[in-house]
Amino acid sequence: TYVVTDNCIRCKYMDCVEVCPVDCFYEGENMLVINPNECIDCGVCEPECPAEAILPDTENGLEKWLELNTKFSAEWPNITVKGEAPADADEMSGVENKLEKFFS
Ligand code: SF4
Ligand code: F3S
Repeated sequence: TYVVTDNCIRCKYMDCVEVCPVDCFYEGENMLVINPNECIDCGVCEPECPAEAILPDTENGLEKWLELNTKFSAEWPNITVKGEAPADADEMSGVENKLEKFFS
């Protein structure tokens, strides 16, 4: 599966949702997550994310993100249409440890 990771937080560009063939993105206030049980591993969303926040969960150290994507995709509403990114999305891109700083 693919998972959404730290740099999505407060960037939330939402380009990803438009390309997913199985509509498996879910929307929180500050970020999106993927439902790992629905993702078919096609990989098309990965290059679409301007924040480079989408990664295959086979990469090292992403266990925490797999857990968070699994947990929140069960709680948050589905999203299939791109909305407006936060006004300061570009400034927020690349800020480190956003999960600790901003996630609530
Ligand atoms: Fe959707 Fe494919 Fe991305 Fe999985 S890898 S979230 S199926 S676009
Ligand atoms: Fe987040 Fe990238 Fe999608 S910033 S909302 S994963 S396009």
